Amino acid sequence: MDNQKVLKDITKEIELASSQDQLQKIKVAYLGKKGKITDLLKSLKNLSIEEKKSKGAEINLLREKALFLFESKLKHIKTSEINSKLNSEFIDITFPPPHLIDAKIHPISKTFDEVISIFGSMGYTVAEGPDIETDFFNFSALNIPEDHPAREMQDTFYIEDKDEKGKPLVLRTHTSPVQIRTLLNEKPPIKIIAPGRTYRCDSDSTHSPMFHQVEGLFINENANMGDLKGTLIEFCKQFFEVQDLKVRFRPSYFPFTEPSAEMDIAYEIVDNKMHIGKGEKWLEILGCGMVNPVVLENCKLDSLKFQGFAFGMGLDRITMLKQGLTDIRSFFSGNLNWLAKHGFSLGEY
Ligand code: PHE
Repeated sequence: MDNQKVLKDITKEIELASSQDQLQKIKVAYLGKKGKITDLLKSLKNLSIEEKKSKGAEINLLREKALFLFESKLKHIKTSEINSKLNSEFIDITFPPPHLIDAKIHPISKTFDEVISIFGSMGYTVAEGPDIETDFFNFSALNIPEDHPAREMQDTFYIEDKDEKGKPLVLRTHTSPVQIRTLLNEKPPIKIIAPGRTYRCDSDSTHSPMFHQVEGLFINENANMGDLKGTLIEFCKQFFEVQDLKVRFRPSYFPFTEPSAEMDIAYEIVDNKMHIGKGEKWLEILGCGMVNPVVLENCKLDSLKFQGFAFGMGLDRITMLKQGLTDIRSFFSGNLNWLAKHGFSLGEY
């Protein structure tokens, strides 16, 4: 058989092959023990030495060409097999899994959005700080010196890494360090809220080691306690959607505010349902007060010229109150059935 014809046939067959299987069969048919090219090589044995040399070289060339064609086609088939596999197994990771098409927004996320929107409508902008804080921002600049009993008010998580001064870093125990970061970076008038994660070594149905607060800070030349109360009452009316809201402010103590207070909201439980804003029971939702002049001075602000108020509110607490939930731990269980029941659809915004 003539070599050119074999090459033509093989080229055509390889071209038509569409799977590794087919290709392998063609390979056997040409290069296997009884393959066409193998036969050609076998037929050499009857020829003269001269002929063996020239014919042999030709057949070897043919063999090499055939092998090359097989290899390149094999590569081609493998690539397209991988591509079609990838296409058929494509997963759009930006898409919720089928059983979660109706994905829900976590109640805490909804509270974050509402808090930002309500304070935003009062002219507050959002400030941020890191979850891992230095002793300075979390404590000392806030007038909580070392060995001060106030440090024991908050069970702190310490981190092995140290700050520049050799003091251990902490997981911030409150959002108040954002007050310091803002006071050091901005000039009054200042009007910010700082919602975020906070951490304390505490866990039961109303305490979680990671929880959420929103800090508020208002500084100008004449802000007073009346402004503070008015702001917080207005916030609660809007957040709880209750116009006639019964609240009380109790004197309290925080090293970074003076005077300090805590705000409680009245509630009652009728037929197993919680009613917010009336009744004889009280729930504490936040700490607040006039910014201690010591804090202003720590941040190089003239405390004779500037004054203002600050507050720190527990976001998990107000979410539980609003949604009638009783166990803070359910927020962080990662339970999708829970979320399907207590989460919110975008439409509910
Ligand atoms: N940081 C205080 C706490 O976590 C709350 C607070 C903030 C009190 C601002 C007064 C002013 O308990």
